[in-house]
Amino acid sequence: MDKKNKKVYIETYGCQMNFSDSEIVASVVTSNNFTIAGSPQEADVIFLNTCSIREHAEKRVINRLRELQHLRAKKPGLLMGVLGCMAGRLKEALLEDEKLGMRIDMVVGPDAYRQLPRLLKDAETGGKAIDVILSAEETYADIGPVRYGAGGVSAFISIMRGCENFCAYCVVPFTRGKERSRNPDSVLSEARQLFDEGYREVTLLGQNVNSYRWQDEHAGSILDFSDLLEMVAGINSRLRVRFATSHPKDISDKLIHTIAKHPNICRSIHLPVQSGSTEVLKRMKRKYTRAQYLSRIQAVKKLLPDCALSTDVIAGYCGETEDEHRETRSLMKEVAFDFAYMFKYSERPGTIAAKLFDDDVPDDVKTRRLKEIIDLQQEISLLSNRRDEGSTCEVLVEGRSKRSEDKMMGRNSRNKVVVFQGKDSKPGDYVWVKITGCTSATLMGTIVDQP
Ligand code: 5AD
Ligand code: SF4
Repeated sequence: MDKKNKKVYIETYGCQMNFSDSEIVASVVTSNNFTIAGSPQEADVIFLNTCSIREHAEKRVINRLRELQHLRAKKPGLLMGVLGCMAGRLKEALLEDEKLGMRIDMVVGPDAYRQLPRLLKDAETGGKAIDVILSAEETYADIGPVRYGAGGVSAFISIMRGCENFCAYCVVPFTRGKERSRNPDSVLSEARQLFDEGYREVTLLGQNVNSYRWQDEHAGSILDFSDLLEMVAGINSRLRVRFATSHPKDISDKLIHTIAKHPNICRSIHLPVQSGSTEVLKRMKRKYTRAQYLSRIQAVKKLLPDCALSTDVIAGYCGETEDEHRETRSLMKEVAFDFAYMFKYSERPGTIAAKLFDDDVPDDVKTRRLKEIIDLQQEISLLSNRRDEGSTCEVLVEGRSKRSEDKMMGRNSRNKVVVFQGKDSKPGDYVWVKITGCTSATLMGTIVDQP
């Protein structure tokens, strides 16, 4: 088949890592004569880059695949592929057309994207194309991502892949395999190139970004995450650097000092706590106690008093009692996170929790506990935003505000969304904004001169 003009549509679900992977996929296919389609209707190939973290995420993808099947009637030869975390986990199920009630032509895991040109050829000849093998080495270091969805201001750079922490509830070590770090030279040259193209913010990504570790073959020296962060921050003081996601066990004093030393490393740390109860943390195999977590938070607050903190929390984990749930709420109040992602526990087949524990918190109790922590966090976030009123902060402009066309939006170093009057500012500009109002999710203000 002539590949010219064939169009690939990529729809991405899940974490930032998946969005970053979709840019690798775009790069691989566009280097092989495909172009990127703006909608599934225009596409000859539809890829869903999928997430397995909770059952709900997987159900959404299956529903979406069903919904897209009608396009086959209009376009014979249309190919549909499942990429990402669901590919390896559900390979067999995805290939059983009759049971599934639809046809999936390609199933490609997160370490197999280099194989896409060959797999596309196989699928075009009518066969099913499958590669879900996980690798201990693949980092896609030499593949320049195609930033097809980005606004030209902020970009992701993936610096390591995989996870070997085996938290009891988590499917990631099974879907993404062994931890491996990417060559620092390739990270630096990607960041430099982005800056030269006009980008003003990079987010260094990894499932456990602060376990980054690179051993130089010749010098034998070891580079850790703080070293890499410092090198990226050194590219230009006008390039903001963020990172996600960190494990509390790896937030070293060295890392906090490195952030403190560089004003362009953003004052915002995402540190998933999952639960405020030491007993629950033990059942989750998180490798820290409530007290140890709080002591890392104290270290951050002491050395970086202006740093925003955000977290992830799971409600209704196996065996969670009312007292343990109360401990989570008390920890959330004590830390006063600026922001939190909160989830109901969802048992994932094959994980340690699924093997060892009963998923015994009834769904209505999970729902109630989740609502309680969401309500609590909303109050805390509103208080945090209220404290910012009257202050002035530097904002990196990202574009027009979605809610009000005449306003612009951007983020401050603390990762807070700021909406402001200021039509003359352009994406990529740094502006100073005086905060005059807020909701629990957004700060509002007006442009002022640099103080
Ligand atoms: N159920 C609910 N939430 C989960 N997470 C990970 N696994 C599960 C699960 N089985 C949450 C954690 C993690 C975030 C990315 O997703 O809070 O930090
Ligand atoms: Fe979802 Fe985790 Fe896979 Fe990201 S790594 S897509 S969060 S299962």
